[in-house]
Amino acid sequence: MNAALHPPLRLGVNIDHVATIRNVRGGDHPDPVRAAEIVSAVGGDGITAHLREDRRHIRDEDLARIQQATNLPLNLEMAATREMLAIALRHKPHAACIVPEKREERTTEGGLDAAGLHNTLVPIVEELSAAGIRVSLFIEAEERQLDTALRLGAPVVEFHTGQYAHACADGDRAQVERELRRITDMAALAAKNGIEPHAGHGLTFENVQPIAAIPQIAELNIGHYLIGEAVFVGLENAIRRMRELMDEAR
Ligand code: PXP
Repeated sequence: MNAALHPPLRLGVNIDHVATIRNVRGGDHPDPVRAAEIVSAVGGDGITAHLREDRRHIRDEDLARIQQATNLPLNLEMAATREMLAIALRHKPHAACIVPEKREERTTEGGLDAAGLHNTLVPIVEELSAAGIRVSLFIEAEERQLDTALRLGAPVVEFHTGQYAHACADGDRAQVERELRRITDMAALAAKNGIEPHAGHGLTFENVQPIAAIPQIAELNIGHYLIGEAVFVGLENAIRRMRELMDEAR
């Protein structure tokens, strides 16, 4: 790959589910801060954490503790609400990724309808940007959503790879190819328009490489699979293996 034309690929590790396991018992173990320290020690490029409105995993007090524990950039995933905006402005993470959020969902189920939410997003993107926080919109790889990101002046979009991941798990080759094509096309279009494309959701050792190979994509955010795999091989080894696969694909 031509490094002058294409960015290196960063790995952001989403540590939410360390907090999920902690919260099941209501104590303070396992501590997501310890996970953040391991991500830092093993050469991860960033920490991603989603402060959900129901606080089912990461809690408010975790954010400052994570920020104090490592020098890695924190990517705060947040719903487009005034409450979350106030929290982001207080903590000033490196980046804020705006995601859709429904209380009853098990995980983020799709991209943000940035086009439909344009007017809600305008002040949020403006206030985060004015505070020096790099705004990312978690969207489907669709031209309509990318257009809205451009109009809003978001410097980053993160493409939702959930449908790609489902197609891989189902062994549906045709659907995998369709999903890859639209993510590849939209990543190129984003980069052409000066927006940095990221990707994430449902990525695993088995399905990460075709996404990592898309040359314009600058960052992958991966959580559930890495934390699950860590149960068997340890978090260091899980991250190292993911990093190797990403580098190999590049
Ligand atoms: N990116 C975003 C915007 C997300 O909401 C999530 C899930 O919280 C991820 C990446 C990571 O997804 P997964 O846990 O499936 O790897």
